[in-house]
Formats: sequence, structure tokens, C-alpha cells
Amino acid sequence: MLVETSPSATRREVRTARQQGLSIGCVPTMGALHAGHVSLIDAARQQCDFVVATIFVNPTQFGPGEDFLKYPRTLDADLEMCRVAGANLVFTPPVTAMYADSAQTIVRVTKLAQVLEGAHRPGHFDGVSTVVTKLFNTTEPDRAYFGQKDYQQQLIIRQMAADLDQPVEIVTCPIIREPDGLAMSSRNRYLSPHDRQLASRIFQALKLAEQLAAESPLPPTEIAWAMTNHLNSVDGIAVQYAVIADPVTLEPLADRSDSAVALIAAKIGATRLIDNQILRFR
Ligand code: PAJ
Repeated sequence: MLVETSPSATRREVRTARQQGLSIGCVPTMGALHAGHVSLIDAARQQCDFVVATIFVNPTQFGPGEDFLKYPRTLDADLEMCRVAGANLVFTPPVTAMYADSAQTIVRVTKLAQVLEGAHRPGHFDGVSTVVTKLFNTTEPDRAYFGQKDYQQQLIIRQMAADLDQPVEIVTCPIIREPDGLAMSSRNRYLSPHDRQLASRIFQALKLAEQLAAESPLPPTEIAWAMTNHLNSVDGIAVQYAVIADPVTLEPLADRSDSAVALIAAKIGATRLIDNQILRFR
């Protein structure tokens, strides 16, 4: 497995692979890898000949007061996981290689990036779409792999790639969960044992929504209330949103339709967690 820190060396390696007729898969990450990230590398390996994982804690997607400085950095363990998972190249640049002091360009998706996470984390998705564009420019992938865990993020990346004619197919992979349902996340390691227990209520609330959509006649707004109540019925969870939205536009859904997505963001202690679940109405 190759490990590169420079964009130009990475581009050179990827182009060499392409000249050999290999298809390229890219898996962007911020490191602190877990089984969710590994599942993306697995999917890329199945569909592509040459898999590039990127590990970069991207400062521009963290707001002031967010956890950029204390975001977990576990590069040695991450490289070992990439090697075991079968990545061919890991691109792990320093901040200075990604952002010149003189940089003045951002990539901004508008409507989709203004709601939900975008409303709670101003500027977050500008950072994401800008860095992912840069990672695509460096790795020139045929396909790039994102987790459904960050539902809004994968929608925004799809929108961006379509709008900017980025020649890459976006693949969304299922959410990998802990045995009690908690979605795997690099941030789970911040949780105290007590908070870790509370965190499983997020999954329970999503399952409740799934069940109510499938088995009751309740409208989406009332299902959203049921999720909120489930989360609020114990101390220690601060709900930021618990909504049922259109799965493509993310607009709040007033009436039962074919499908929907339930999305939750909640703070447990100082840790902010997000999760989601596709719903089918009966
Ligand atoms: P990060 O949080 O490290 O996540 C990297 C990728 O792993 C994302 O596509 C995310 O959705 C996926 N992922 C995380 N947890 C998952 C889980 N439990 N199951 C399945 N997939 C999971 O998302 C980012 O980094 C950054 O915003 C990035 C796209 C790399 C841009 O900086």
C-alpha cells in the first residue's frame, strides 16, 4: 500500500494506475477509522481496481467552537486498517498542502446545504464540498464512496458532482451500526459510558419512526413528534432536530408519500451525533 502526503505525487500514482487500465475508487475520510469506513473501502474494492483512501481532518468544515483541534487523530492505526482492508493508496496531506494562505475559492451547494446540518453548522458544507472537489481533482476517481450515515452530505456531493460535471459516480453505502444500533462514528469515542448508553435512544427513535410509518396511519409530523418524545423522555439528550423529510429535497414532509427519510441530530453531553433511517409508508 502506498502512502502519499503530496497531491502531485498522489495524482502521479493514480494516473500510472489508470494508464495500466485500472479503474479508480476514492474513499474520502477524516480518519479515526472504524468499521463504517472499512465498509466503504470494501465496496470500492469490489467495484474498482485501484482504491484510494484519503485521510484528512479538514479544518474548513469545522465551525469556531467545534472539535477540529480535538478531533481524534489515529494515523498509525488508520493506515493499518486501510492496509488490511486492501486500499492501494492512502492520501494523507498536511493542511498546508491542501490550503494555501492565498486560497480564495470555495465550492458551495445552495439550497440543500442550508437546511438541517447546514442550519446548525453554518459553513460546514462549504468546507465539505470544497475539500471533496479538491480530493476528486487529485485522485480523479471513476467512483467515490460515501456513507448514508451522513445522509445530507451524500445528497450534497451528488448535487455538486452533477452541477459541476465532475466525471465521477457517487456511490452511497449502508450505515454500519454497533450491536445496540448506535451508528458507528469517530465521535462515539468521546462518549462517557453513561452517555454511550443514552446514545442508543437515537436508533430506537428511528426504529419507532420506521414502525409507525409502516404500521400506523400517522402523518409524518406526528411521527416526528413521536421520535422527539422518545429522545426527550430521558435526561441528557438535547435534540437539535428530529424530522421526517423528502429523501431527495430534504424538505419537511407534510403528508404520507412513497418514501421519506427520518433524520436526527442530538447532543449528548458535549458530543453531537447524527443518524437517519429511510421510511416506507404502508
Ligand atoms: P468522516 O466522518 O470520516 O466519514 C467518512 C465517510 O465515512 C463518510 O462518507 C461517512 O458517511 C462514512 N461513514 C461514517 N460513519 C459511517 C457508518 N457508521 N456507516 C457507513 N458509513 C459511515 O464525512 C467525512 O468524514 C468528511 O465530511 C469528508 C467527506 C471526508 C470530507 O472531509
